[in-house]
Amino acid sequence: MITVSVCVGSSCHMKGSYQVVKIFGDIIKKEHLEDLITLKASFCMGRCMQGISVTADDKPIQNVGFTNAEQIFYNEILPLAQAKA
Ligand code: FES
Repeated sequence: MITVSVCVGSSCHMKGSYQVVKIFGDIIKKEHLEDLITLKASFCMGRCMQGISVTADDKPIQNVGFTNAEQIFYNEILPLAQAKA
C-alpha cells in the first residue's frame, strides 16, 4: 500500500491539480487498486515552481500535469505500488 498525495495548494490548483486528483481517482476505481493505493489531496508542498506536486509515499513524482497524469500513473506510480504489495 502506498499513499499518493496530490497538492491542491493555490499554485498547483491553478495548474490543474484537481483534474489530476480526478484522473488518478478514476484509474484507481476502474482498475480496482483501492487496496494498493490511497489517494490524498495535500496542502502546499513547497515545490510550487515544479509543475503539480505529487508524492508517492515520500518520493516526489516530477513533471506531473493533467495532460500526462494517466501516463505517469501507469509508468511511475503503479509500479511503485506493485513493488510494495
Ligand atoms: S501549491 Fe503545490 S507545492 Fe505549493
